[in-house]
Amino acid sequence: MLFPQNIPLLRTLKYNIILPKIPFHLYNRNYCHSRAGEAFVPFDVLVSQRRNEARRSLLVEVAGLPSSADLHQVCSQYGAVRKMFHYATRHGNVRKEMILVEFADAESLERALQSTRSPPTERIIPVHSPFVWLSASQPASPNSKKANVSSSTNITQETVPSDEELQLQLLQSRDLSEQIQNVYECQKLTELGSRLRFFTCRQVEVALSGLFPQACILPFGSSVNSFGRVNCDLDMILELSDVTNQDSTQRLVFQAKKSRSAANPRITMQRHMEVISDILDNFVPGCSQVRKILAARVPIIKYRQDLTDMECDLSMANRSGFYMSEMLYLYGSMDKRVRPLVFAIRKWAKDRHVTSPYAGRWVTNFSLTLMVLFYLMRTSPPVIPPLQTLIKLAGDDDVRTAEGINCTFLRDLKILTASDNMQSLEDLLRGFFEFYDKFDFKERGLSIVKGDDFVKPVHSALYIQNPLERELNVSRNVTLEELERLRTEITHARYRLEEDTQHIEEHGQQPWGLLSLWGTSHKPQAHRGLNASIDWQEVFHIQEQETPPSSNKQLNVSPVHAATKSDEKVPSNGEKARNNTKFQPVERTKMLKEELIMPSDLNGLVTKLKRNVVQKNANGKKNKKQKMNKVMYKW
Ligand code: CTP
Ligand code: MG
Repeated sequence: MLFPQNIPLLRTLKYNIILPKIPFHLYNRNYCHSRAGEAFVPFDVLVSQRRNEARRSLLVEVAGLPSSADLHQVCSQYGAVRKMFHYATRHGNVRKEMILVEFADAESLERALQSTRSPPTERIIPVHSPFVWLSASQPASPNSKKANVSSSTNITQETVPSDEELQLQLLQSRDLSEQIQNVYECQKLTELGSRLRFFTCRQVEVALSGLFPQACILPFGSSVNSFGRVNCDLDMILELSDVTNQDSTQRLVFQAKKSRSAANPRITMQRHMEVISDILDNFVPGCSQVRKILAARVPIIKYRQDLTDMECDLSMANRSGFYMSEMLYLYGSMDKRVRPLVFAIRKWAKDRHVTSPYAGRWVTNFSLTLMVLFYLMRTSPPVIPPLQTLIKLAGDDDVRTAEGINCTFLRDLKILTASDNMQSLEDLLRGFFEFYDKFDFKERGLSIVKGDDFVKPVHSALYIQNPLERELNVSRNVTLEELERLRTEITHARYRLEEDTQHIEEHGQQPWGLLSLWGTSHKPQAHRGLNASIDWQEVFHIQEQETPPSSNKQLNVSPVHAATKSDEKVPSNGEKARNNTKFQPVERTKMLKEELIMPSDLNGLVTKLKRNVVQKNANGKKNKKQKMNKVMYKW
């Protein structure tokens, strides 16, 4: 029997009557459909819907927004147009206006592409793809007469608030919880951003479809795990065919070539990726700066898709990364506080240069997200359950294995119960910094599988267990210096927030809450010299030389640096430490030299903040926190 969960009285009563001691996830309480704020959409369903949209979509470069009516009429010749989105890209001085058109069905797109022509010059490669441009209408063309007719075109233009607008919004927020929520609302991946990511995947699928009609490109990482910001990169997995899902009773079997290095699947994959990177570089519109990083643990092709305006990382045989994203998506959907909190902390880390868009010996967004999840498992009561709970509750439909890794966990959140934790976002943010300020990073590692810490099995500055490949540490790349910086920033943030509470009545138009925590996002609070004790050359494991932007030569990345997705096996079998994810351009060095605040500098600041906080408390000033109505999250 299910308790009528929405009646608050029952929540109170639960503690007054004697109930058998069962884990909180097994309480007979309904999983409310909107704990993350929206109806829960299973990951598979979401991915399949987005892929279908991409299969019906056409990306058209136009002269400008006024062309939308014209474009609508042109496209309507081939079938019903469902939606249109307008956006602009800018490279240097070149601005391009783009419209993403979604047809009602894939056949309409097919008809449109059948009629599309190649440009009249011999110097182009006449490739067919759903990336097109709209030429000016000919005077004699019947379309030209209709072009000015006001069309029923409903075109969506998404506006992402600028940093200044966001700052203003944060200044005007009622409290810290509202600020955190606002950051999430302003910075989360938009509808168009999500569509363009799936569409960019679709482009590569189409490019390979002649030889591999079943090729499937799936996005993973922040593009789909619900923690992605606008402009986040696009991580993709390419699977040439779903060989596991073939009907073995069929009599006709495709002839196929034996792969040249069948004995070594890794070499085979590297060869395939070389060919694919050549195809992207030579034939696929919009792909630029194609680079191969094939010596990496997970070999990748990096490129820019200029027309959808995103950085792309393409890998093969990496489906476990996709399931990892699904797991993060589920955690983001479990409670409506998870995503805003992760966003606020990722933004704090970015603005304080704790994380970086480039790979190196610092904490990554992925590791930071796991830290937030771990903390939310350790609140009292926990906001989210540990992964082992999801594993225990998994049914037959949830069984998944990828690359020999067991990726089985509960996927339908409806059977999971809600948390009793009622803390506001503000409390959770403060709690995060307090928790990690006290955490014994030296001796203990973090596991979201058990939701508990453990004695580190090997010496590694920061140890965060990979939830799917448990013998790996996702933060092996982090050096002691970088961990020290993270810890100092955490302490600084903790006391900064504490001091901010003391001053809350004096704010006026002064930056407060998140704004005071971040400092000025683009200009760090102080420009400090580089700490000479750190050898940045060594840190980056890369030769400081510019790479020609469009070169398709394999990058001269040392094997140490080149190990992407940097988990390291625990057994120290003599394997060299491998560094983390992405290619590390030299700009980071420059940026660090100019802007980074070193731990030693921050320590002084923290001491001052602590002194202020103690002083204010001693003066008996009213603590605004006690007065504030906490935002309670009900579900
Ligand atoms: N991943 C992993 N193990 C790692 C690093 C990454 O499984 N050690 C997977 C995670 O699913 C991660 C994805 O690869 O989300 C992409 O990695 P990355 O691009 O580094 O992180 P994102 O989560 O996409 O965050 P960002 O916005 O910084 O790109
Ligand atoms: Mg990413």
